[in-house]
Amino acid sequence: MNRMNASLHLTPTPDPRGAGPATDPPGPPTRWLGLPQLRALRRDYLGFVTGLQREHGDLTRMRIVHERAYDLLSPELVREALVDNAEHLIRWERGIAVFEQVFGRSVLVTEGPLWQRQRRLLMPAFSPKRVAGYASLMCQAAEETLAQALPPGQRQGLVAMEALFSRLTMDVILRTLFSHRASADEVQSASWATQTLSETAMREMFHPMTLPDWLPLPGKRAKRQALRSLRGLIARHIEARRGQTQPDRHDDLLARLLAARDESDGSALSPTEVFDQCMVSFQAGHETSATALLWWSLLLARHPEVAQRLHTEVDQVLQGRLPGPQDVAALPWLGASLKETLRLYPPVAALMSRRTVRDIRLGHWQIPRGAVLRITPWVLHRDPRWFSEPEDFRPERFLPEAEPPVRGAWIPFGVGPRVCIGQHFALLEMTVVAAMLLQRFRLVLPEPAPQALPKMNVTLRPDGPVSLLLQARSAG
Ligand code: HEM
Repeated sequence: MNRMNASLHLTPTPDPRGAGPATDPPGPPTRWLGLPQLRALRRDYLGFVTGLQREHGDLTRMRIVHERAYDLLSPELVREALVDNAEHLIRWERGIAVFEQVFGRSVLVTEGPLWQRQRRLLMPAFSPKRVAGYASLMCQAAEETLAQALPPGQRQGLVAMEALFSRLTMDVILRTLFSHRASADEVQSASWATQTLSETAMREMFHPMTLPDWLPLPGKRAKRQALRSLRGLIARHIEARRGQTQPDRHDDLLARLLAARDESDGSALSPTEVFDQCMVSFQAGHETSATALLWWSLLLARHPEVAQRLHTEVDQVLQGRLPGPQDVAALPWLGASLKETLRLYPPVAALMSRRTVRDIRLGHWQIPRGAVLRITPWVLHRDPRWFSEPEDFRPERFLPEAEPPVRGAWIPFGVGPRVCIGQHFALLEMTVVAAMLLQRFRLVLPEPAPQALPKMNVTLRPDGPVSLLLQARSAG
């Protein structure tokens, strides 16, 4: 990592007038109201933002119709915005409008005092200590799904990894939310629904407004069906719990949400809030982890030498038993391989854009009130100033003895007060699932190997199917 280069690159551009901060960072010229840039973003968001940094540096501006948009492409600028100036930012209204249709007024969507209250109420359910208690539910889900990964009696076979991890993480979230073991039909329809909603959201994000869902437009029917299916699933589980004589015998996320009380006034989450938080945990918690595990499995199949190291570590530490929260620290190579996967393929490759609610200063630039700020972990994670040979899969960067990444350079879970509430949950889930998969199977690239180029929907997914050869390890 070349930190000297980094500081050189960050040397602020001198103010052309020699007094105070300059007001206009560099950026592409505005032509045709910035519509060519909007088209380029829609076509290849990550490629476009990477090019912006190459041509114009770490802080670039552009005008798109009436919006002034700024891309923050260094760890320092990102922290200045999301940590130091968090209270002067809200999330970009268009993104929120799109997400609100799916997640309602949940913690992912709200702002100000309402968000603070919801976040306060939810935090205990997602604390590392609490999350550790879900490990055995995670193991049960992984055990059942992995036992059915290959057809009965077969020792190896080509497996569609998206379907496997989608099923597995769906099972994990249903068990941890509702103590419910999902049927194959439920999993299939919920997977389809979450995928459909992601694709629709990504499309709608680039429209100036969302047209009503009842209109007979392409994609609207699928969206209506997907929403109906997910809402129905969540509502059925909550109703079933409310109808139980002993609802408190459960120790799952729903029980935590129902029992949560605000310290300041003793208030609980309203029924709608409970519903919305379940929707958000379900969608955010299932698709992101599935995507991360999908990339991880592909990287291991491409790097058998790393996979071998992980097999050895898992075998030595676990000796065939189920993993638990206490094992996370004892599996440094496994943890490092997951973190390196999140670096190369951050499931949330672009954070939700922010809007400034007053003038702020970033580096030596004055950013006006009302500006849109874009933050793209993908670009930070692949910047050679922070990660040498950034395109390479090198888990050793994240081993405990390695120099930690520059603060703000590795942000798969975001940073600042709105950092992912489910990060401990996700890391434990991924560790448990990955360890159990390694105990049972070798991951081998088939011929021809899947090309799997990253494509941004709401999460960063491979652009085509990823099937790998799974070979059973033990004689069992
Ligand atoms: C590998 C898995 C995951 C990744 C990469 C991830 C990533 C992220 C990121 C980047 C943000 C911040 C977005 C921004 O600042 O614009 C976020 C927020 C959030 N995540 Fe996650 N997430 C993951 C798993 C989970 C899980 C398992 C849950 C819940 C069960 C969850 C629930 C949430 C919620 C509720 C927020 C909004 C928090 C707020 O605004 O206060 N995530 N996530």
